[in-house]
Amino acid sequence: MKKTTLPLGIGIIGGGFIARFHIKSWVGVRDADILGIFDPDAKRAREASALAKSLGVGPAKPYASITDMAADPRIGALWICAPNYTRGAVMEEIAQAVIRGKAELIGVACEKPLGRNVREAGKMLELVQKAGLLDGYLENQVFSPAVVRGKEIVWARGAALSGPPYLARAAEEHSGPHMPWFWEGALQGGGVLNDMMCHSVEEARFMLTPPGAPREVLTPVSVTAYTNCLKWQEPKYAAILAKNSGGKTDYLKRPAEDFARSLVEFRDKSGKILVVETTTSWCYVGAGLRLSMELLGPEYALQINTLDAGLKVFFSREVKGKAGEDLVEKQNAEIGLMPIVADEASEYGYIAENRHMVQSFLRGVRPEENFSDGVAVAELLMAAYRSAELGRTLAFPIKGLDEYVPPVARGKWNPRS
Ligand SMILES: NC(=O)c1ccc[n+]([C@@H]2O[C@H](COP(=O)([O-])OP(=O)(O)OC[C@H]3O[C@@H](n4cnc5c(N)ncnc54)[C@H](O)[C@@H]3O)[C@@H](O)[C@H]2O)c1
Repeated sequence: MKKTTLPLGIGIIGGGFIARFHIKSWVGVRDADILGIFDPDAKRAREASALAKSLGVGPAKPYASITDMAADPRIGALWICAPNYTRGAVMEEIAQAVIRGKAELIGVACEKPLGRNVREAGKMLELVQKAGLLDGYLENQVFSPAVVRGKEIVWARGAALSGPPYLARAAEEHSGPHMPWFWEGALQGGGVLNDMMCHSVEEARFMLTPPGAPREVLTPVSVTAYTNCLKWQEPKYAAILAKNSGGKTDYLKRPAEDFARSLVEFRDKSGKILVVETTTSWCYVGAGLRLSMELLGPEYALQINTLDAGLKVFFSREVKGKAGEDLVEKQNAEIGLMPIVADEASEYGYIAENRHMVQSFLRGVRPEENFSDGVAVAELLMAAYRSAELGRTLAFPIKGLDEYVPPVARGKWNPRS
């Protein structure tokens, strides 16, 4: 592992939607600069580099390959922000660059999900360890200020005096992803369950875990899940997906779930059962992305709803502006009473997440949210898919989970057939 001088140089792999969020978050991150972007789409790489420069978060420049970027001695850590179907190849190239002595790095941080299934997530962990790198799993929700502060207060007051929480509810809902590849079960790994329940199960588990305690204090006991395609399989909406993808996405024949829920039971160290209830949807048409969370215990309740924003605007029907996402992520309207999430990069957790990753890498310690957590999340998601497939509750450990690929990821799922 390389020794570094401040600031830590960061290279971002994939210069799309989430890379822009990370770059924007960097105005609140100390001791690290964004120096490079690799994206096979040169325009995306140029745009992401220009954004970094314009925000003053680093003299980022595009690189011709991951290996070239990793080999630059000024770069000490890489952020993987490329699509899910590229994870294995991307991590393999990083590991090879390090193992063959072409690159000296401290760590790698990887966006959710760590892999499209347990096997792929496990391979990511294996490769990062083989290369001797520190690993951060980019689950922004467990760094969101409302989640972190809420957990602190609930455990310090409510739990300390009346007993620990027993139920966490998390929901992630919006009107559907921005790029065609997300909608393809094979490329993304599934539908909304894989794409968004990864946030919910991890955030809820985090809330139920006593402050400072390791992940292992909660053991998964059972899972009951349900999936369906409520909206996007309708011919009118399937036609929109087909048009947006140049005819590739076919939700009449190969849909993915646009609604999913799961109930996971955990056992704590005292043997008590705790419950995580999640709901995720790509068919929620409200003002925009809605993240909600509740944490309930014997004498208290916590609630978060990102669309209950303190800032709201009203635009009359005379304000006929063009469509945009300037008020909130996955915005659906421009007129009427609209919530604005004032600082999305902060409120969704990206600033605190990146500060934590950078500071952990600089101190040479493994981040608190790491690839092992990414593997554990993949296990919960695959267990949920299997439960939905079989239509029953499954008890852990679940046989064959390591090799399981859900029907939706094999193009073999259709709730109407
Ligand atoms: N934390 C969150 O809430 C959140 C939100 C959105 C996306 N994500 C995750 O981030 C990742 C990227 O999603 P996105 O929304 O930015 O997608 P996107 O399609 O907007 O951007 C992906 C970018 O990666 C580039 N790319 C394609 N193949 C590549 C490769 N082999 N190497 C490097 N770059 C490559 C594409 O050209 C594109 O510019 C996904 O894994 C997704 O699940 C996380």
